Amino acid sequence: MNAQLAESAFLLACRRRPVPYTPVWYMRQAGRSLPEYRALRAGTEMLAACATPDLVVEITLQPVRRYGVDAAIFFSDIVVPLKAIGVDLDIKPGVGPVVADPIRDAAAATRLRPIEPDDVPYVTEAIGALVKELDRVPLIGFAGGPFTLASYLIEGGPSKNHDRTKAMMYGDPGLWHELMDRLTTITLGFLRIQAEAGASALQLFDSWVGAVAPHDYRTFVLPYTSRIFAGLADLDVPRIHFGVGTGELLGIMGEAGADVVGVDWRVPLDEAALRVGAGKALQGNLDPAILLAPWEVVAERATTILETGRVAEGHIFNLGHGVLPATDPDQLARLTEHIHSTSRR
Ligand code: CP3
Repeated sequence: MNAQLAESAFLLACRRRPVPYTPVWYMRQAGRSLPEYRALRAGTEMLAACATPDLVVEITLQPVRRYGVDAAIFFSDIVVPLKAIGVDLDIKPGVGPVVADPIRDAAAATRLRPIEPDDVPYVTEAIGALVKELDRVPLIGFAGGPFTLASYLIEGGPSKNHDRTKAMMYGDPGLWHELMDRLTTITLGFLRIQAEAGASALQLFDSWVGAVAPHDYRTFVLPYTSRIFAGLADLDVPRIHFGVGTGELLGIMGEAGADVVGVDWRVPLDEAALRVGAGKALQGNLDPAILLAPWEVVAERATTILETGRVAEGHIFNLGHGVLPATDPDQLARLTEHIHSTSRR
């Protein structure tokens, strides 16, 4: 890693060291809110695009150029490693991941095998090319959290309440633990592949885990998220842990072992810092819908987040969830500028 990269505001904030200004990036910064993304993706299916290194490199760089963000996020999807080990699934536009044969029994669960670098040569190739192109801008690799992946696999697609997922969790804990154990091995393997290819930070997107009560998280999820973060500890790469609707889970997520905890828009960052506990940086947490309001509203809300974020030991500005497709890219470019200039020390 070059010295400027190691001293980048993003990596310094992840490590809770002093920063020249608050670093910023946006979850789902690459994607449908960018006209240049839509133009490049035209005629190529999402999963085919994820397996084409030239496209992955260009799409990953688009938001870095346009928004001036302090980190790039690798263009891929949480279901890519599942597809790579042979799960029959697709990403349907406007819907999300759809699984042909949902996993509902032990025979199906035991077909989930560990992932190897040879399963995803296009990931290693694209990350290698990106690290060169990005030079001093950090690249964030990512994977889906085990609960979130389990939900897509059990439900067969997106779900509002994760009923079948919870039915397995409560009703057949043996099968649940078998499935979570295998997904943990895949997720950990996929994150290590990205770090070894050159990613300089890793984010675990357990987006839908906010559906679980804290005492159930401890029994049914924490053993697995803890194993993932512990399994990355030797890599010297900051680990970020994010979910939506996790206000009641922030304390336990703090225990799971990441360096940075992502916070959605429901909990102010000063309160989140108390819940997460000492020794963590925070990432967040502007409601992505605020970007649909006039600029003055965005600026005022963003400034408040910088202020509440000051009590955290490190703060990476982000949205509370992904960029909405209807977002005007100019709002995000202006927001990056606003965060940098307002926070400059
Ligand atoms: O953040 C980025 O810019 C990097 C790319 C990225 C994508 N998916 C690209 C994508 C990341 C980090 C993800 C993660 C992801 N995928 C999550 C976790 C983050 C979150 O939002 O909570 C989840 C839950 C998924 C599953 C998934 N894949 C959904 C819900 C969708 C949207 C379906 C739709 O069309 O509304 C996808 C597809 C997807 N992943 C798109 C992109 C750019 C849209 C594909 C398209 O352009 O047609």
